[in-house]
Amino acid sequence: MPLASTIDAQTQLVGIIGWPITHSLSPMMHNAAFAHLGLNWRYVPLPVREADIGMALRGLAALGFRGVNITVPHKTSVMPYLSSITDAAQTVGAVNTIRVDRSNGQLTGLNTDMSGFLTDLAVNGVSISSGTRVVILGAGGAARACAAGLVRSGANVTLVNRTFERSQEVVEFLRKGWPKSTVSAVSVDWLHDVLADCKLIVNTTSVGLWPETKASPWPAGVSFPPNVTLYDTVYRPLQTQLMRDAAQAGARVIGGIGMLVYQGAAAFEAWTGKPAPIAVMRQVAEAALSGS
Ligand code: ATR
Repeated sequence: MPLASTIDAQTQLVGIIGWPITHSLSPMMHNAAFAHLGLNWRYVPLPVREADIGMALRGLAALGFRGVNITVPHKTSVMPYLSSITDAAQTVGAVNTIRVDRSNGQLTGLNTDMSGFLTDLAVNGVSISSGTRVVILGAGGAARACAAGLVRSGANVTLVNRTFERSQEVVEFLRKGWPKSTVSAVSVDWLHDVLADCKLIVNTTSVGLWPETKASPWPAGVSFPPNVTLYDTVYRPLQTQLMRDAAQAGARVIGGIGMLVYQGAAAFEAWTGKPAPIAVMRQVAEAALSGS
């Protein structure tokens, strides 16, 4: 898709800060969205080492950037440098989007991973209400974002992770920030027992991610519960082994591309103040992923 105008003194900049930045679909998605709306904005990859993160963030305002996405490994380490952090980002304990206030250069930290996940569930008609039973596989950053969104929606969440201690840490963190949380952790050996009445299973582990596409985080010999929805936050490949296995067992399956698109759309809207062209962003991401 051609960009709407050449880069000039009016061009507004946003980007993504991480280390390293490989395979990110965000530049493509956002630049296509800007082009579609005829906005003279550009989204650039900004690889920044851990030791330089403070300097890089101070530089954003000085250089007139309108905002950035933050990715691995900086989602937590950026927090001390921000003027304010939204409730959602506080609950998750991580920031994936920063908005720069043009009037005073102040930085606000947001978390659109959580809202992106919740939006995609809603768009797919997966309703979460008080007491809905959910099992989350994993205890990393993606697990935190999904678990925080679900407990805020009233769900009863159980984390199951290879390293049990890590899932316990997430539980303690969420309970501290959101005392109403109904969240717990069990070891993988107990997965079968927590699946009764489970309506939603969310994979937040990296197992099955390209190029290890034959791998699945689901333990052999454990059956999927009836009428369950399986949400895999992995989107590369679009169809994971876990999704194939769950579908074969009768589950409804949803891949992670929607979460990617909606977290990007929420960041786009926070920066530009305009509704994101979601269909364009999805089309670009799907085209880039098709065949992987
Ligand atoms: P992210 O921030 O993307 O969530 P992460 O913090 O590295 O990434 O977390 C990756 C998750 O995948 C963790 O829950 C990890 O389990 P551990 O806490 O035991 O490391 C999980 N994971 C990665 N490889 C795995 C594997 N081969 N089997 C099971 N779980 C795995």
